Amino acid sequence: MTTNSTVTMDTIVSLCKRRGFIFQSSEIYGGLGSTWDYGPLGVELKNNVKRAWWKAVVQKREDMVGIDAAILMHPQVWVASGHVAGFSDPLAECKSCNHRFRADHIEGNRCPDCGGELTEPKMFNLMAKTFLGPVEEEAAVVYLRPETAQGIFVNFENIQTTTRKKLPFGVAQVGKAFRNEITPGNFVFRTREFEQMEIEYFVKPGTDEEWHKRWLQDRFNWYPSLGMRAENLRLRQHGSDELAHYAKDCYDVEYLFPMGWSELEGIANRGDFDLRQHAQFSGKELNYFDDEANERYIPYVIEPSAGADRSTLAFLIDAYREEDVQSGGGQTEKRVVLKLHKDLAPIKAAVLPLSRNPQLVPTAKEVHSLLRENTDWMTQYDDAQSIGRRYRRQDEIGTLYCVTIDFDTINDRAVTIRDRDSMEQERVPIDELVAALKQKLG
Ligand code: GAP
Repeated sequence: MTTNSTVTMDTIVSLCKRRGFIFQSSEIYGGLGSTWDYGPLGVELKNNVKRAWWKAVVQKREDMVGIDAAILMHPQVWVASGHVAGFSDPLAECKSCNHRFRADHIEGNRCPDCGGELTEPKMFNLMAKTFLGPVEEEAAVVYLRPETAQGIFVNFENIQTTTRKKLPFGVAQVGKAFRNEITPGNFVFRTREFEQMEIEYFVKPGTDEEWHKRWLQDRFNWYPSLGMRAENLRLRQHGSDELAHYAKDCYDVEYLFPMGWSELEGIANRGDFDLRQHAQFSGKELNYFDDEANERYIPYVIEPSAGADRSTLAFLIDAYREEDVQSGGGQTEKRVVLKLHKDLAPIKAAVLPLSRNPQLVPTAKEVHSLLRENTDWMTQYDDAQSIGRRYRRQDEIGTLYCVTIDFDTINDRAVTIRDRDSMEQERVPIDELVAALKQKLG
């Protein structure tokens, strides 16, 4: 099996915990299996991923709009969408150790953990259920959405009439989804609560295959546009036995994770399955009047569906580097650096006084507030430990620029900007600092 040998998942998990990217959920109670909390740096990184996605697929295009639908939906939505009947995985249990497995992920009928015999696979529905209202009865059952997509389909008419968009047009949404996965794992790669970044792109039937190709290209190119190395990405077409119940065709964008090639994003041709089903189950007309062709039809849908957590994890893994550098004393030492793209790095600039000397602190604080007030970047002020250690700490979290205030600053009102990647240093007057950094950050 091919794996990303540059970094192990354990190294990433440990960096994430140590530096405040991702913590185990409810850790003080011993944790809750496969659920994770994004810490102060993690929330910035994931927000930057979602913002970059929104910018690329909504803001920069004239054929896209966004929505934010509720997680809880009418239970009939999931009957119409086919999820009640068909959103299941085959589950097999070991008769000796009782461990459970996805039967389609293992070969033969022996337990991968203890070698015991496995039960016949049973279909297990992945939707998480809850009750709304004070009585726990069957009539009060609702599902936590297993995909955000249905919030777009059921609003098709609302969106089309309020925006007066003509085909082809698409709707984007970012939001939580829940699946009772049989085998979650690999950190935030497969969890039971996660965030999706989904697009439903409505097209005239017959133009769907062409649009599918265009979206495959667009979405595949998005990852390298944010610094991900092209050699760690590939497109893979689904075999007919893999296709979801709604899909006519589907490709995955795969990333070479430490555990091997795995799905980052699915790009499916859903045909007219969803709008047709919702029209039938709701009794409402969900179609489109094409005034050029003077005909009414149900649009087809191309669906690029990405995971915000998986993308964040892949960007972290891809950015991780261990480099040999010369220390002040002439020895070689290791520096860990997250070479995150400038749009993704959680902290754009850190302000570092050379020491806590009272002569330096007022100017350092002044520089920090200058950056906070004149930019919309996340910044940090760091004065603990030696300057070398602070550079290493900022490198490890991917901070793009360190701004150092030293004793010369008091006389010449100039600071040093250190570049994360080249480690080159440049002296800039405080009055020109914001403009100089803005130019670098584009
Ligand atoms: N609406 C289509 C759909 O939901 P999917 O391939 O099941 O398609 C889309 O999911 C994306 O959502 C995946 O490519 C992945 O990035 C993310 N995803 C799915 N299940 C996940 C899970 N259990 N944990 C984290 N991310 C998940």
